[in-house]
Amino acid sequence: MDKIKNTNVDEINSQPQRKRIFSGVQPSGIITLGNYIGAIKNWVELQKDYDCLYCVVDLHAITVRQVPSELRRRTFEALALYIACGIDPEKSTVFVQSHVPAHAELAWILGCYTGFGELSRMTQFKDKSRKHSDNINSGLFTYPVLMASDILLYQANLVPVGIDQKQHIELTRDVALRFNSVYGDVFTIPEPYIKETGMKINSLTDPTKKMSKSDPNPSSYIAIIESRDDTVRKIKRAVTDSDSTVKYAPGKDGINNLMSIYSCFTGKTFDEIEKEFDGKGYGDFKAAVGETCADGLDGIRNEYARLIKDKAYIESVMKSGAEKAYYLSRKTLSKVYRKVGFYNV
Ligand code: TRP
Repeated sequence: MDKIKNTNVDEINSQPQRKRIFSGVQPSGIITLGNYIGAIKNWVELQKDYDCLYCVVDLHAITVRQVPSELRRRTFEALALYIACGIDPEKSTVFVQSHVPAHAELAWILGCYTGFGELSRMTQFKDKSRKHSDNINSGLFTYPVLMASDILLYQANLVPVGIDQKQHIELTRDVALRFNSVYGDVFTIPEPYIKETGMKINSLTDPTKKMSKSDPNPSSYIAIIESRDDTVRKIKRAVTDSDSTVKYAPGKDGINNLMSIYSCFTGKTFDEIEKEFDGKGYGDFKAAVGETCADGLDGIRNEYARLIKDKAYIESVMKSGAEKAYYLSRKTLSKVYRKVGFYNV
């Protein structure tokens, strides 16, 4: 049954129909430069033109074991960090996944329209079950169904993600199309939104791998809120090849990665970067990338330090975000309930 909490429904309904965006990040660790460039920075820009929902996906996080107090703290910190990065809670709906019950409710239903074989083909599942071989739980397996639920609940048109999530979006589309073909137009079919440069920032110690916050070696990633010195030092020590000219080339993963980082902070194209460092070696280039990156992150660090102390404000954002999301999610969920034939009183 639908109960609408005391949300300002008129305000939501009167907003002009802009295309909708949904995206989420797990509160499962430190947020890295990879997450910032691959996701959050784009989210900030998209706020101008789209109706955006940004979600801290804590339900997804428990597919691998979490320490409860840490999960709680990181959820708070992730939300504060989004805001520090420029997500404006007045413009966008910022919320925590577990605060809106419809995510889990719709996931159950969608699971009944998703094939075992389809889920078995997900590369993230294969990777994660290798990594967590002591805990291959069914949540890890059905993770993409919950993700489909996140997206479809809000009738999102576009889903900004890193390239590693593309397969999950394709699954979401397949499930939505399948559902629609049986019940009519229930779900908007979402598209992945993947930016060309900076969509994937790699590890500084093994540039053939994605930069990951769960990497046990902290030299492999830049944490958004680490000190300036750490950032500069890690980039100086980043693994590169034995060549010395700053040129983008297949196989030169280390340099390509640093060029991507530099490009994201300066807005320069790879051609422009190659010209700028023509005749200079890797040392000069790394120093420039380090300084530029540290400069780019300074503002975020300061704002984050301020926000993290303002618990009342962050919690008020969580609450109003959850109310807006709740209202939107119920619209979709009640339609789905009706379509599949659940009894309504
Ligand atoms: N699976 C995504 C990741 O690990 C996080 C996520 C969960 C997500 N639900 C989502 C991303 C919905 C986009 C849309 O990065």
